[in-house]
Parts: sequence; structure tokens; C-alpha cells
Amino acid sequence: AAAPDLAGRRVVVSAGGTREAIDPVRFLGNHSSGKQGYALARTAAARGADVTLVAANVSLPDPAGVRVVPVGSAVELAEAVEAERRGADAVVMSAAVADFRPVRSVSSKIKKSGTAPEPIALVENPDILAGLVASRDAEAPGQTIVGFAAETDDVVANGRAKLERKGCDLLVVNQVGGGRAFGTEDNQAVVLGADGSATDIPTGPKDDLADRVWDLVVERLA
Ligand code: PMT
Repeated sequence: AAAPDLAGRRVVVSAGGTREAIDPVRFLGNHSSGKQGYALARTAAARGADVTLVAANVSLPDPAGVRVVPVGSAVELAEAVEAERRGADAVVMSAAVADFRPVRSVSSKIKKSGTAPEPIALVENPDILAGLVASRDAEAPGQTIVGFAAETDDVVANGRAKLERKGCDLLVVNQVGGGRAFGTEDNQAVVLGADGSATDIPTGPKDDLADRVWDLVVERLA
């Protein structure tokens, strides 16, 4: 059994991929299956944490002993995470969040006509992770905030720039593209710390990667 080193701790994990409605039948989305986020929730619960899992469009069974809050869009995910983060010791944002959403979601299905369809105008979604960092002192002093980054190239350089932009404590940078990370059973990452640290996590099951991330969170909470 796992060491109960998260006993007495409350953590919030986001998982899955947001969907931004274009019309009642279509959306802008991404390939996240939720497996990495569910692994984070499952392993935190096994280590004794009180876990809330905010799940965007995931079709996996609820992990045992975890409270699951289902959401659809980035705005819904933002509202759920902002409510749940109060009083939590750590928040881990492993969800793949759409950076943009259609300005308008039309209420009836867009029909195929003889002419080219109207371009879909987009507006930026809130940056949830940056918002959690900005409101931490007021809402959750001392909370550890962990982001994920999906990068296709220059993984460490792009990750370091993203860590600085978002201001989180740890950024788990996984390489995507070429069939990696999205929907797979295994994953691999380098975890960058705001203190300049870099921890390599070799390829292995998503639960193993999740456990290594919690090890780093536990170190910070100590
Ligand atoms: O679900 P799986 O199939 O197991 O795949 C796992 C995964 C590849 C989706 C996961 O490991 C992962 O990398 N998740 C983050 C993907 C992502 O959206 O990365 P990003 O570089 O676009 O965003 C960086 C961080 O900012 C993320 O923590 C994201 O949750 C957050 N973000 C992004 C946009 C936004 N508007 N608000 C945010 O909070």
C-alpha cells in the first residue's frame, strides 16, 4: 500500500479536455482522454488525500473514493476549479483547456448550403492556471499550484517560458505529437520548478508519473 503522506490534505485535480460549442452538435475540442488526470486523482486518494476531480468530457469510471465534478467547457471548468480550490492544499491542472471559444454558439444546427460557411469567430478563454496563481494570496494562501504543459518541440525551453508566464510552483512538461501522451497508457515528463529545479520522469504508466508528481508536491507541503 502507498504511504499515507497525503493524509489530512485536500487536493483538486482537473482532467480531460474542454469542448467549446459551435452549434448544438459540434464543438472545438482536443484529444485528452483524462487518463493522466484520473491517474493523479487515483494515486492521491491512495496516499490518503481528500480528492476532488474536475473532469471535462471524460468517459472513464470514477476513481474509488474520489469526488468527481463533471464539466464541459473551459468557462465551466474555470468556475468549478475556482470554487473547489478554496481551502485546498494543492491544485493540479492536468486538463487540456481550449485557449479560445466561438464568440457565439448558435442554437440551431448549422446547415450545409451551396456557399462556403461563415468563418467561426473566436474569443480567448480565461487562463485558469494563471488566475489561480494571481488570486492565491486572497483565496488560498500557501496553496501549491501545479500546471501541465503539452509541448511538441523544444520541450524544456518552452516549458521554462510557460512556467514563468503562468507563475505556478511546478510545471509538468510532457511531449505530445507522434502518438505521445494523449490517450496513451504511458507518459514521460520533465517537471520544472519555480526554484529552477528540473526532475526527469522516465516513460512509464501514468500512475507512476502521477506518484512522482505527488512526491514533489509532498516535498513542498512539508
Ligand atoms: O488525458 P490524457 O489522454 O491522459 O492526456 C494527458 C495530457 C497530455 C492532456 C496531459 O498530460 C497534459 O499535458 N495536460 C495539459 C495540456 C495543456 O492544455 O497544456 P497547455 O500547454 O495548453 O496548458 C498549460 C497549462 O495551463 C495546463 O495546466 C492547462 O490546464 C492550463 N490552462 C490552459 C489554458 C487555459 N485557458 N487555462 C488553463 O488553465
